[in-house]
Amino acid sequence: MAHVPPDRNLALELVRVTEAAAMGAGRWIGRGDKVAADQAAVDAMRSMLDTVSMAGVVVIGEGEKDEAPMLYNGEDVGDGNGPEVDVAVDPLEGTRLCAFGQPNSIAVIAASERGSLFFPGAAVYMEKVAVGADSVDAIDIDATPTENVNAVAKAKGKRVTDVRVTVLERDRHDELIGELRQAGARVALIRDGDVAPAIAAARPGTNVDILYGVGGTPEGVISAAALKCLGGGMQGKLWPRNDGERDALVAAGYDVDRVLTTDDLVKSDNIFVAATGVTTGALLSGVRYVRDGVVTDSLVMRSRSGTVRRIEARHTLSKLTHFTGREY
Ligand code: FBP
Repeated sequence: MAHVPPDRNLALELVRVTEAAAMGAGRWIGRGDKVAADQAAVDAMRSMLDTVSMAGVVVIGEGEKDEAPMLYNGEDVGDGNGPEVDVAVDPLEGTRLCAFGQPNSIAVIAASERGSLFFPGAAVYMEKVAVGADSVDAIDIDATPTENVNAVAKAKGKRVTDVRVTVLERDRHDELIGELRQAGARVALIRDGDVAPAIAAARPGTNVDILYGVGGTPEGVISAAALKCLGGGMQGKLWPRNDGERDALVAAGYDVDRVLTTDDLVKSDNIFVAATGVTTGALLSGVRYVRDGVVTDSLVMRSRSGTVRRIEARHTLSKLTHFTGREY
């Protein structure tokens, strides 16, 4: 491999953005208002984003410009200098989890070379199978759930009864859950938030071996970016809910039968991802309040170097308010 001198790691700046979003949402944990929690995360993320030296364009954001005044798809972010990148944001992934004080809500951002992120368009849902580095070659989204858990068990050198599969608790997954249990796997059902467990599948000691099932397509792209940094991987397939959705996707040029690999979802080896816990879960600890301060727990990842950092930060509230003009 050609020698490349060390350079700036954009993710180390992006982590300030997810910390801000997590602290914004943090005030709404357990308050029962997911809209306010999301808005607080968006506002805080947006206020920090323009400190980052990059020429970013939001490819995965809060939606269309008319409905999302901030972080809409197509919005320019960053200070305009530095690398030209696609940016995927989820200021609060798992809005209900935060509102109801349940595990696994996170703030997350990914930046990758311009033009490299899969554009989800009208593809709301996709089927996903996500795993860590040791199981990447074992999975096949076209195989049965039984075949997949058996292959992952073999790749990991453990019994199938020790394979832990995280699945969103949805009616659409009844058959999947039944088959996984029949195969002997342990199924952990989650109420929401499939990004944290997808990433956790590629982190040691998290109790997640596989994230399986249908979830959001934007969330799938963000998960793929993080998995690529961690050496893990996923396979996906768009999952239209009905014939109308299928026809619209085909008309827009999507191949709904195609298996989307990690590389299809993120066509780059120069990816930066930062994620900060909002509520404590498999991947990260949530925001914690101490005297005049907030403690955050984040992951900072870069695909090219493969470096994964875990950053605990203590933020001083009185100084932050003065310094940012924002009440965290
Ligand atoms: P929000 O953060 O927008 O609330 O989405 C959470 C989430 O659970 C995702 O993690 C997941 O991919 C998707 O929603 C599942 O969609 P649905 O709730 O419609 O099944």
